[in-house]
Amino acid sequence: MGPVQIKEDIYWVGALDWNIRDFHGYSTPKGTTYNAYLVLDEKITLFDTVKKTFKNDLIESISRIVDPRRIDYLVVNHVEMDHSGSVPEIVELIGPEKLVCSPMGKKALIDHFSREDWPYHVVETGHQLKLGKRTVSFFETRMLHWPDSMMSYLTEDRLLFSNDAFGEHWATSQRFDDEVDGGELFAHAAKYYANILLLYSPLVRKLLANFAEARIEPAIIAPDHGVIWRKDVAGIVSAYDKWSRQESLRKALVIYDTMWHATATMAEAIGEGLKQEGLDFKLLNLKCNHRSDIMTEVLDASALILGSPTINNGMMPVMADMLTYMKGLRPIGKVGAAFGSYGWSGEAVKLISETMREMNIGLVGDGLRVKYCPKKQDLDRCVELGRQVARAAIGLESSGSRPGATS
Ligand code: FEO
Repeated sequence: MGPVQIKEDIYWVGALDWNIRDFHGYSTPKGTTYNAYLVLDEKITLFDTVKKTFKNDLIESISRIVDPRRIDYLVVNHVEMDHSGSVPEIVELIGPEKLVCSPMGKKALIDHFSREDWPYHVVETGHQLKLGKRTVSFFETRMLHWPDSMMSYLTEDRLLFSNDAFGEHWATSQRFDDEVDGGELFAHAAKYYANILLLYSPLVRKLLANFAEARIEPAIIAPDHGVIWRKDVAGIVSAYDKWSRQESLRKALVIYDTMWHATATMAEAIGEGLKQEGLDFKLLNLKCNHRSDIMTEVLDASALILGSPTINNGMMPVMADMLTYMKGLRPIGKVGAAFGSYGWSGEAVKLISETMREMNIGLVGDGLRVKYCPKKQDLDRCVELGRQVARAAIGLESSGSRPGATS
């Protein structure tokens, strides 16, 4: 859509991907953006590139400002291909004097592109690079969310190129936070955090502490996805502080799949029990809710009750998918239970419970199984399970205990 000026001599030159709907397992119903930034100074500098298929958008935007061959430095904050896919063509086109990256970034670039001959300029945390009247300070952010990840801070402008952090997968023609609906913006940012950064929450906490210690107080945060924060920088930093603490609300999720509606009927009765004890709940049928939307709900839930009937001596495939995905993202501070109907062997509840235990979810009971169709007494047991889980969640809140927390 062409370049957008952020400040004098600083431009967004990225690309909009309106049509992507799956980002390595994360649903993106409103697309995403690949943000790149151009700074004009004595040394003209490009921060990040875009996904390979959007290379022409990047070149077109740069060309409307300056001849790309005049670019002196290319900074690669992150080597994942949505940002580095165009690097080979861009290096070829601009012939940079320096390709700036972290130590792990250099290794990752060579691993991806087999180019030992590029003009690498390796920077570590605390290193600075003068562009002319501007100075760039670099911060390695290893495992936020790749080993190579780093951020670049324009000291005089207090502008942070934050790479993936503080981003959203949301394609809009607006480029700034004050131009879009705030509620929708924070909902996208929460989904991004829950699905990309949740497992690295301890590192997010360190990052925020390091910023405070180094007195880094960005006036603008320019991430590599979504809109640029210039109005509510404090709001998104505060949200990251809250999300990285994994603070829970009085909220339970009953996540289930069902075959002939028996497990669904159990889920409804469990919800009734949760509500009786004062816990709000959501019933999330795995066939109707994407795993990445469920993870967004998990972010601030205090209780997870997971249900599946038994099929072929195991759980339903969508439950296995959900558990694999959720386990990898390492939510902490939850209580929960497993439930489900069965016909003869009934392994699903045990298998779900085992995985929940591995995830350090505080289990209430050994799981609730019902043979074929739930009868009145079975539904009473489901209501009671909901009540027990609700009491455990509220008890957890009162005690301040955090199942799964390591520090
Ligand atoms: Fe947006 Fe980790 O790449």
